[in-house]
Amino acid sequence: MNARPLCAIRAARPEDYDAVIAVVDDWWGRPASRDLTRVFLDHFYATSLIAEEADGTLAGFLVGFLSPSESSHAYIHFAGVAPRMRRSGLARELYERFFARAREEGRTVVKAITSPVNSRSIAFHTALGFEASAPVADYDGPSLDRVVFRRAL
Ligand SMILES: CC(C)(COP(=O)(O)OP(=O)(O)OC[C@H]1O[C@@H](n2cnc3c(N)ncnc32)[C@H](O)[C@@H]1OP(=O)(O)O)[C@@H](O)C(=O)NCCC(=O)NCCS
Repeated sequence: MNARPLCAIRAARPEDYDAVIAVVDDWWGRPASRDLTRVFLDHFYATSLIAEEADGTLAGFLVGFLSPSESSHAYIHFAGVAPRMRRSGLARELYERFFARAREEGRTVVKAITSPVNSRSIAFHTALGFEASAPVADYDGPSLDRVVFRRAL
């Protein structure tokens, strides 16, 4: 595991959206920001997490929620770590905090999805104990294939 500067992790706030959306395309290495619209921070900030360096620089984030419709499910919509901070366990820490919160709220399953081209995301989720589906054709609409991750909590 790489060393990393000390980061503080806190609950997200709606106004974090601007700092988060500003880094998404850069951190993903491709256009990805349209899949993270403001509604996610406006309505799911309490279960989402922000990691910051001591000077307030964004180091990582997790946008997730407790499904309002599937009472046993939690869902992680987006998570990212600044390239300079990768492989230091920060995303694992964000996920583990989210898992703990979801368990406290009685959730027994956590799900997420990714694009089949995102091999880093597939490696990360598999390392954290998620089962990964084969790519599901047209999962998010025409030509938007997705890998579906599922993990017991
Ligand atoms: C995927 C991502 C969030 C991982 O963040 P991270 O902080 O580097 O991940 P961690 O350090 O917590 O890694 C935990 C484990 O996942 C696995 N892993 C993480 N990145 C990996 C990579 N690039 N290749 C292979 N395995 C990887 C490893 O097993 C790692 O443990 P190790 O470093 O002790 O071997 C980060 O690469 C990222 O922000 N990518 C761009 C955004 C993205 O694709 N997000 C996907 C979720 S929506």
